[in-house]
Amino acid sequence: MSLYALYPSLIRPIVFCMQPETAHTMTIKLGQLLSKPPLLRLFGQKVASKPVEIMGLKFDNPLGLAAGMDKNGDAIDYLGALGFGHLELGTVTPLPQDGNPQPRMFRIREARGLINRMGFNNKGVDYLVKNLQQRHYNGIVGVSIGKNEITPLERAQDDYLICMQKVYNYCDYIAVNISCPNTKDLTALQDEEPLVKLLGGLKEEQMKLANSTNKYVPLVVKIAPDLNEQQINALCDACLSLKIDGMTCTNTTTSRDEIYGLPHASEWGGLSGEPLRQKATLVLSKVHARVQGKIPLIGVGGVGSVISAREKLAAGASLVQLYSSFVYQGPQVIEDIVNNL
Ligand SMILES: Cc1cc2nc3c(=O)[nH]c(=O)nc-3n(C[C@H](O)[C@H](O)[C@H](O)COP(=O)(O)O)c2cc1C
Repeated sequence: MSLYALYPSLIRPIVFCMQPETAHTMTIKLGQLLSKPPLLRLFGQKVASKPVEIMGLKFDNPLGLAAGMDKNGDAIDYLGALGFGHLELGTVTPLPQDGNPQPRMFRIREARGLINRMGFNNKGVDYLVKNLQQRHYNGIVGVSIGKNEITPLERAQDDYLICMQKVYNYCDYIAVNISCPNTKDLTALQDEEPLVKLLGGLKEEQMKLANSTNKYVPLVVKIAPDLNEQQINALCDACLSLKIDGMTCTNTTTSRDEIYGLPHASEWGGLSGEPLRQKATLVLSKVHARVQGKIPLIGVGGVGSVISAREKLAAGASLVQLYSSFVYQGPQVIEDIVNNL
């Protein structure tokens, strides 16, 4: 029996006595400590090999860690050793920033969900790059990029370009986060005109960097679950015409339909986990129907079992990611999903 099988009965009760953000900070600190080779062997997990190749990249298996858990790349080697086929780090911004005031993360225990309004708290792109340079993990690493809170929306592209240029040489793909509901007006970048301007600029830069470095780093766009059909179609069409390399469906939702009346349900922020599952899968299906296999898709939102992972793959995803189920089930969830896919 794996050590992590004890998480729900022994470790989670202790973890859940702490404030969610304290528990998160401790997890990353512990991950940092366990990232040393002898400990890695002891605390790592061996999972079945289920290779997937998309965007010109070879993933050991289809399950990845979603953005937001290791924003600064502090625990890359530990998280990589848990059996994920890829890690998405960030979201990172050009300058370090504190994010929103605490408390800003809430467990919706009855629904196996989380609400967060972190607001891109991170130590800045230069700090992340140092950690990327020092990593030993040789699986696929994506970096999610965003803009600083103080940067006006009209100048958002400058921030994304700075991050892109700095991480380009040190990661395998770049995720463009325009769907976080916790940074003021960020989701407006999903509207057609600003979207085409932003992604067009990033595509141009990608071509320049690919020529100068001899390395093509795919660009993936992460979208919100709260878009209507018309918005989804317009967004997909823009991604198709700009030759975006991948799309991730979805970020957290502002809807509270699934958790109405539960403790913390009225906190503002993005809802993730089980209550997001159906909504995210629906958006994924709609995107799949529109892009018709021309853009590879990553499914995220409520993945916490082999059934929910298969749901995303059946809806058109080539890869899946998780965050919230790691909080509720611990690292065992990775082995359970990958080995049974
Ligand atoms: C505390 C927290 C912080 C997050 N931060 C980010 C982030 O920085 N960038 C991002 O693209 N998504 C972020 N997300 C969203 C996740 O990457 C994911 O899209 C969402 O949680 C749905 O997956 P899940 O249901 O498996 O949690 C965050 C989610 C949580 C719970």
